[in-house]
Amino acid sequence: MSERTLVLIKPDAVRRGLVGEILGRLERKGLALDAVELRTMDAALADAHYAEHVDKPFYPPLKDFMTSGPLVAAVVSGDDAIAVVRLLTGPTDGRKAPGGTIRGDFGLSNRENLIHASDSAASAEREIALWFPKI
Ligand code: CMP
Repeated sequence: MSERTLVLIKPDAVRRGLVGEILGRLERKGLALDAVELRTMDAALADAHYAEHVDKPFYPPLKDFMTSGPLVAAVVSGDDAIAVVRLLTGPTDGRKAPGGTIRGDFGLSNRENLIHASDSAASAEREIALWFPKI
């Protein structure tokens, strides 16, 4: 079933020049880019996007990181796109993510982990409405 999901290519990936690599992996897999924008997350958007994490101890440094510079927000679509993009992304911690995944190939951190991808249909709908209210 065709689905849409929200991807954020995080500020670490933008600083490291990995935007093309990451978008290329999504495109080569056969997924479509319905929207792609360079954006900067402000504090209010961070609190809304990460509503389920705002009370966690890792949230303050996560918020500082996510608002530290531009990121690339994208709506990605295709067959089972939510699960497929999560597979390409790999587990949260780059040290535990297998080779072949974006986090496994490019990172060593569980905070500065290059990419966010919606984790369910409900999250995708909520996050796309937050980042791209017009599409
Ligand atoms: P993301 O997919 O954007 O969803 C929540 C984010 O919180 C996650 O990627 C990481 O960037 C960050 N995160 C999750 N768990 C931890 C943790 N234990 N320590 C630091 N950052 C974390």
